[in-house]
Amino acid sequence: MTVKQIKIGRNDPCWCGSGKKYKQCHEAFDKKIYSAALEGHTVPSREILKTPEQVEMIKKSAVINVACLDAIAEEIKEGMKLSKINDIVNEVTRSMGGIPAPLNYEGYPYSVCTSVNDQVCHGFPWDDVYLEDGDIVNCDCSTILDGYFSDSSRMFMIGNVSDEARKLVEVTKEAMMKGLDEVKPWGFLGDMAEAVHTHAEANGYSVVREIGGHGIGLEFHEEPWVGYLSNRGEDMLMAPGLMFTIEPMINMGTSQIYTDKENGWEVYTMDGKPSAQWEIQVLVTETGHEVISW
Ligand code: MF3
Ligand code: CO
Repeated sequence: MTVKQIKIGRNDPCWCGSGKKYKQCHEAFDKKIYSAALEGHTVPSREILKTPEQVEMIKKSAVINVACLDAIAEEIKEGMKLSKINDIVNEVTRSMGGIPAPLNYEGYPYSVCTSVNDQVCHGFPWDDVYLEDGDIVNCDCSTILDGYFSDSSRMFMIGNVSDEARKLVEVTKEAMMKGLDEVKPWGFLGDMAEAVHTHAEANGYSVVREIGGHGIGLEFHEEPWVGYLSNRGEDMLMAPGLMFTIEPMINMGTSQIYTDKENGWEVYTMDGKPSAQWEIQVLVTETGHEVISW
């Protein structure tokens, strides 16, 4: 990799536009990034680190995203058509001035992903599929407001869910939360990933390898790609301003998956056993982290 030498004088105005002198603003910050890069770590580019102004706009987008998931939580029940969840997302998002980010994203044909039981992710909210007693379903919402992106998902349990499936849902949430606990400035994404996969594997589950989280905010999917199988000290440096999703897909059986050949989107477990996923959007701050969408 190449690291650009910082050619800015210590008494010059900081590059960030704060109006402060560089030495009183981003000098120490840049030095930390530079030395991590020299040690061979992957470090974030300036472009993906969010400014306070951008964070405020992204939070407004997230208000809508959270409202979508809250509305789904209120209404979801046995016998409901999956397309009703799509209707709820459209209704809530449009009434609050936003746009559902999935719609037409790389040709995705709906406003939300609904992934039931052995569906791992990107399930279509079909008009002729009804939620049944015992189903576990992930509803994944993403919103654009004034060009700023938010993204989070939750699991819902319909009626009487088996103890086995309930445990998968709960352990997956715990794994995400344990990952979140590791999000702090000057750590590494691998610290988070290790916490996620260690908890999932300790419970006998497997972690999907091919599909991960992502940077987010100014685009739907930005750098970095966020996996859950790496270990402490690996992957990108978590500098303050880095914003990304933690969204592990945890399978009860094998980690092997396949994608529906007909529609090219819906992902299933190879063994037909259930899969669960929770997703939060998080910002690395100077002192720890802030959850942006949940
Ligand atoms: N919300 C999904 C994610 O977490 C987005 C999948 S792309 C879509 O990244 F087109 F299916 F929405
Ligand atoms: Co996401």
